[in-house]
Amino acid sequence: MPRIMEVGGGALERLAEVLAALGVRRPLIVTDTTMVELGYLARVEALLDAAHLDYRVFADTVPEPTEASIRAGVESMRDGTDQGAFDGLVALGGGSPIDSAKAIGVLGHFGGAIRDYQFPRSAARIGLPLVAIPTTAGTGSEMTRFTIITDDSVGEKMLCPGIGFMPAAAIVDYELTLSVPARVTADTGIDALTHAIEAYVSRKANPFSDHNALAAMRLIGPHLRRVYHQPDDRPAREAMMLGSSLAGLAFSSASVALVHGMSRPIGAAFHVPHGMSNAMLLPAVTAFSLPEARERYATCARAIGVAGVDDDDARAGQRLLDELAALNRELEVPRPRDYGIDEQRYLALIDAMAEQALASGSPGNNPRVPSHQEVTELYREIW
Ligand SMILES: [Fe+2]
Repeated sequence: MPRIMEVGGGALERLAEVLAALGVRRPLIVTDTTMVELGYLARVEALLDAAHLDYRVFADTVPEPTEASIRAGVESMRDGTDQGAFDGLVALGGGSPIDSAKAIGVLGHFGGAIRDYQFPRSAARIGLPLVAIPTTAGTGSEMTRFTIITDDSVGEKMLCPGIGFMPAAAIVDYELTLSVPARVTADTGIDALTHAIEAYVSRKANPFSDHNALAAMRLIGPHLRRVYHQPDDRPAREAMMLGSSLAGLAFSSASVALVHGMSRPIGAAFHVPHGMSNAMLLPAVTAFSLPEARERYATCARAIGVAGVDDDDARAGQRLLDELAALNRELEVPRPRDYGIDEQRYLALIDAMAEQALASGSPGNNPRVPSHQEVTELYREIW
């Protein structure tokens, strides 16, 4: 986990203190145009100006970051500041700017190409300190040792693991999520829920990840619909933000599983936002996996709040499946065919997507490890 954590409403105000504690005098701020438009970048700049820090801004990160977009960031990293080379990074935004900053930091410091760090390889050494400031709840990227970068030349989302991608500090301020639009709130919220469920049923689950995953589900379960319908519901936003970070902690330790493994190829091929492609898959993949982990999924249902202590595991498992389907309806998650994806292209790519999914390693953590054939059937089922 990050060495420094500042959590709660208004935590952003402590950014300069955090940088001082890490000895950072010349940070590169990595963000995107949304953060510029919302005025969040200006707030960060005001904090750094007040502390007389010499910084530069790279605001050209893209949603679902690509290798090309990272290269531009690494170039800015090489330019440095008036006073010399950068000695740290600040990532401001949703999962995409944070994932971008992780890759820019490692490549800018150690060199190489991002493909050199793709699973099963990893970033084994810690480079420049990164302060992650998430503005969605969320990918949990501020708490994980992973970054996901798309290789646009072959259309593949690369999972890159390693302690080198772990932020040195996380500033988790739910007030930054109050302006997130409903669609992004839903997609990122289901992503966080998926992290918690997958970490809990993962073959790499352990007592540390279990407690974080269950706490995350207890926070996310009752609040996900509330933030979708009531964007200014502060207690619900706070619960979602904390749930997202704890879910990040859980899957950074226990990994994600089949939903994420199958989700990345959909995102790479059809540019579906990460949380939405997870949501498309979550009900079907949970139904597929449930027979191999009935007790674990039943515990998820109880933590989320859709089953009680009196429900046996079979009943609780069914309640979980019902809830995930109901959630997709209420949060208006489309099926791939309703998202405007071309049917012929989708069907033609299923085989390649299944191959990419299995190669990512994530399906190997699933309680029911699928064959290539079973993955292709799941892709067909969710169409
Ligand atoms: Fe995710």
